Amino acid sequence: MHPINLILMGFFFLGFTCSLHAEEAYLNYKTYCMQCHGMHGKGDGVNVPAMNVLPRDHSDNKYMMTRTNTEIYKAIKFGGPAVNKSVKMPAWEDTFTEEEIQQLVGHIRTLCCEQELVRGVNFR
Ligand code: HEC
Repeated sequence: MHPINLILMGFFFLGFTCSLHAEEAYLNYKTYCMQCHGMHGKGDGVNVPAMNVLPRDHSDNKYMMTRTNTEIYKAIKFGGPAVNKSVKMPAWEDTFTEEEIQQLVGHIRTLCCEQELVRGVNFR
């Protein structure tokens, strides 16, 4: 096979696995986060009327730009108190693998910060 074909195939599989990961994170978000954070992360899930601390609006660009990926990661893994937020945000370290948590951070960035992602902003 011509080497260029191998390279092209490489790109194909890379793109394929990236989109699989995005799909997995979307499904995890839909299954585990949506009841509080809402379908599109707007903080308007079905649990909201019964909650005294409102789930974060993950699509609020202005606020989410003040948060680093490390903080988002910690909030998901260890729960709200790990980043000085409410216990109403559960810890997910027993539910997800490291990779799945990373993917959820990535998914949240697509909800708040699409423009910045395109510009290649480093969220640390
Ligand atoms: C039981 C309801 C509930 C569920 C389920 C839930 N969250 Fe939350 N989450 C909250 C609340 C409430 C807050 C806001 C805490 C605060 O502001 O003090 C929050 C805050 C957060 C934050 C912190 C944002 C910030 O201010 O820095 C992140 C990140 C987050 N949630 C991600 C997730 C992800 C990912 C999932 C699913 C795996 C999830 N949450 C599931 C209730 C929930």
